[in-house]
Amino acid sequence: MLLQFPQAFLWGASTAAHQVEGNNVHSDFWLMENLEGSMFRERSGDAVDHYRLYREDIALMAKLGLNAYRFSIEWARIEPEEGVYDDAAIEHYRDVLKTCYENKITPIVTLHHFTSPVWLIRSGGWESEETPARFARYCGKVMRELGEFIPYVCTINEANISIGIAKIMKRHQAKGTAQVGINTEMAARMESYNREVSKAFGIPPQEVHSFLGARSEKGLEVIFRSHAEARTIIRQVSPQSKIGITMSLYDIQSIPGGEDNASHALHEEFLQFKRFLMDDDFFGLQNYTRSVYGPDGALPVPEDAEKTQMGNEFYPQGLEAVIRYASRQLDKPIIVTENGIATDDDERRVAYIDRALTGVHACIADGIPVQGYMHWSLLDNFEWQLGFSKRFGLVAVDRTTQERHPKPSAFHYGNIAANNAIDDNGDKYKS
Ligand code: BGC
Repeated sequence: MLLQFPQAFLWGASTAAHQVEGNNVHSDFWLMENLEGSMFRERSGDAVDHYRLYREDIALMAKLGLNAYRFSIEWARIEPEEGVYDDAAIEHYRDVLKTCYENKITPIVTLHHFTSPVWLIRSGGWESEETPARFARYCGKVMRELGEFIPYVCTINEANISIGIAKIMKRHQAKGTAQVGINTEMAARMESYNREVSKAFGIPPQEVHSFLGARSEKGLEVIFRSHAEARTIIRQVSPQSKIGITMSLYDIQSIPGGEDNASHALHEEFLQFKRFLMDDDFFGLQNYTRSVYGPDGALPVPEDAEKTQMGNEFYPQGLEAVIRYASRQLDKPIIVTENGIATDDDERRVAYIDRALTGVHACIADGIPVQGYMHWSLLDNFEWQLGFSKRFGLVAVDRTTQERHPKPSAFHYGNIAANNAIDDNGDKYKS
């Protein structure tokens, strides 16, 4: 049966600046990657050279049939030193946005996707009381310059990620997996590594507060206040831009006896932040898998479950459950800003996409205002501490030549987008 989507549905793919652009030299991650004995398995280096090849990449998306692109603007490029703005970087992103329109692609812009300028970290980073004002000032600058081209803006990507990271670090002192690219094998070397990091930033180890780390209560408040203050400024300087935040949500489930743990996890990962989101125009929802709770906490992924390259359970049906849950809680338009799978078996990516989209369709059929689906990711890219080894892309990249090679899943997803419909029997649109 053909499942038809609303006419205006946004069909896109996502990237994040640091993961694809290359040479993000003023950022905290660049500094940490290039340390002796770094936690990062590889350096981002030229990444997939998207800072140079964006025109080609955007044209490719259009050719595949997509009509939206979620990407991030890099704070460390726009404001490499505090209060000093780089006009060339602003012009670069203006051209990225214009290129989207030339290709009939709606841009969805994220203003912070994990990486921060080194100067911000030296000034207290994501635990400092000053950060909300600094972040809002940067957002104001970008939106004053470029807001006319930005119909949708996400202030902060996965503002709640530190909750998940803290749990994972606790759970996997020795070994384990994480939803995002965290190198858990390094836990043992943490102390000496922290000393290196502190030397590089020139501040004591306990004062290094990059975004991807455990957060204090106060730090969480700093992040969500940064969102709220940015929202206020963006509304002033670019009133037509729709504003949201993105959050990573597991499909939280329980087995008998695990109900309290599951509801505690829901509160910690999502519900406690609701009050900061009520004035947003939309919610950017990201989901990759489920997390099942028992009486003693989160259960490991069962031995016999199909796993992705990240060690997560293959569980595309989680997206539907999370959309339904978030919509009940927030009652506002939802854009799926990320959903995807790391795998070398592209047929499993096709299956994942089909199942996820069938779920999105069911939500829309029930009246839930889901406005778009941004697959993570357009390109195989730099998966943070895990380097280039995890392949989330619809498009493969030969990093020696930077040539792009769309995978069958890219054509499959592109056909769904171009037809604005999915065949729930599976392979009608395979090319
Ligand atoms: C992040 C991406 C990351 C993806 C896959 C999300 O949590 O926003 O940057 O690459 O997950 O791990």
